[in-house]
Amino acid sequence: MKENNLRYIIETWGCQMNEEDSEKISGMLKSLGYSPTDQREEADIIIFNTCCVRENAEQKVYGNLGMLKKLKEKNPNLIISICGCMMQQEGMAEEIIKRFPHVDIIFGTHNAHKFPEYLNRARQEGKSIVEIKQKDEGIIEGIPIDRKSDVKAFVTIMYGCNNFCTYCIVPYVRGRERSRKPEDIINEIKGLVNEGYKEVTLLGQNVNSYGKGLEEDINFAKLLRLVNEIEGLERVRFMTSHPKDLTSDVIDAIAECDKLCEQIHLPVQAGSNTLLRRMNRNYTREKYLELMKEIKAKIPDVSITTDIIIGFPGETEEEFEDTLALVKEVEYDSAFTFLYSIRQGTPAAKLENQVDEETKHRRFNILIDEVNKIIAEKNKKYEGRILEVLVEGLSKNDDTKVSGRTRNGRLVNFEGSKDLIGKLVNVEITKAQSFSLIGKIVE
Ligand code: SAH
Ligand code: SF4
Ligand code: F3S
Repeated sequence: MKENNLRYIIETWGCQMNEEDSEKISGMLKSLGYSPTDQREEADIIIFNTCCVRENAEQKVYGNLGMLKKLKEKNPNLIISICGCMMQQEGMAEEIIKRFPHVDIIFGTHNAHKFPEYLNRARQEGKSIVEIKQKDEGIIEGIPIDRKSDVKAFVTIMYGCNNFCTYCIVPYVRGRERSRKPEDIINEIKGLVNEGYKEVTLLGQNVNSYGKGLEEDINFAKLLRLVNEIEGLERVRFMTSHPKDLTSDVIDAIAECDKLCEQIHLPVQAGSNTLLRRMNRNYTREKYLELMKEIKAKIPDVSITTDIIIGFPGETEEEFEDTLALVKEVEYDSAFTFLYSIRQGTPAAKLENQVDEETKHRRFNILIDEVNKIIAEKNKKYEGRILEVLVEGLSKNDDTKVSGRTRNGRLVNFEGSKDLIGKLVNVEITKAQSFSLIGKIVE
C-alpha cells in the first residue's frame, strides 16, 4: 500500500448498520493509501454518515454541515461528503446541495462501495457529485473493513427491512430484506478469528427472518448453530430480533450453544395491544410476555433489553400505563427509550392526533425513572458474584483500569493493564453502579 499523505475523518450517526458502512468506507480509503485523523481541521476528506430515524439525528447533521463552511474556505481542496440513511429520503440530497453548496459528494446507503470512484470524479471534475440509488445492486462482498475494535466485530448477516412499522423510516432508506450467503458470513467470521477477534455480533434489522429468499436450506437458528461451531471464537451476540418472528428454535439455540451469549435485545416498542396494532408490530402484549417466559425459563441469567417509543400518535393515558406495567413485569436489564418523532413518508406521520410535547415528556420521564430503578436493582444483585468478562479496552477516563462485558452484556470496570485486552478473565463484582459494575480480577 502506498501512502498518499492525505487524511480523512468519518463521523457516524445512527445504528450499527451505519457504523459498519463507515468501517467499510474507512477500509477502502486505507487500502488506497489514505490515513485516518480524528481532527476535522487536519482532514483532506470529511465524511458524515447520517441517520434519520428521529428528527434530532437530522438536526445535528445540519448544524455540523454549517460548521464545515469555514473549513472549506480555509482549505478549498477539502472534500466534504455526506452519505447514509438521511440522504435516501426524497428530495434530501437536492436540499442539502442548495443549503450547503460547499458539499462535494452525496451518496446513499446502496452505493457506499462506490465512494472511491466518486472521490476521483469529484477531484477531476471539480463539481459536486450527487448519486443516490433507490435500489441496492445486490450484496457486494469483499470490501475491506477497517474495524474500530480488535476484540469484537459486527458482522452484517442481512440488509434492509420488510416490516414497515408505521412510525419507522428504516425500510424506506435501507430497502427490502436481503440475506448474505451463509458461507460468506462464516468465512468472514473465520477470518476475524484468525486476526484474533474473540466476539462477533450478527447484525440485521430483523435477524429472525434471516435466510428468506436464499437457495440454501438455512434460517437464523441454523446459522447460529453454524457460527457456534467456529473454532477459536468465544462469544456470539446478535441484534435485532423482532418479537413477531422470534421462534423457539432460536431460543433453544441460545440455551444449548456455548458461544451464544445469554442476551436478547427484543424491542417491544409499546405494551398496549391497541398501540401495537397501530404501530403494525404484528404481535400482542400476551405473545410478547409468553416469549419472555420461555426465554427466562430456558436461559438462566439471561439479560433482556428493549426499545420503547413514547408518544406515538393517539397514545392514551391508559395505553401508556399498559407500557409502564409491561416494563415493570419484564424487568428489563436495559432499555432504550425514545420520544416519538414524526418521519415524513411514514403512515404514522399522517395521523392527526399527535400527542402534545408536554404529555410526551411527562410520560417519558415516568418511564425512564421506572427503567432506571429496575436496572439499578438488577445490577445490585450481581455484587459478590464472579463473572467471566471479555476485556475490550482501557476504561474511559482511567487508564489504570480496563473494561469489558459479561456474557450477558453488563459493562464491568476493574484494575488491570492493557495486556488484558482481548482476554477472558474472571472478575468478582465488588460494587454495582447505576449502569455498570465495578470488580476485581480473581485467579
Ligand atoms: N430494526 C430494529 C431497530 C430499528 S430503529 C427494530 O425493529 O427494533 C431503532 C429504534 O428506533 C426502534 O426500535 C424504535 O424504538 C426507534 N424508532 C424508530 N422510529 C422512530 C420514530 N419515528 N420515533 C421514535 N423512535 C423511533
Ligand atoms: Fe423499523 Fe420496524 Fe423495520 Fe425495525 S422492524 S427497522 S422498527 S420498520
Ligand atoms: Fe438510523 Fe439508518 Fe440505522 S436511519 S437507525 S442509521 S438504519
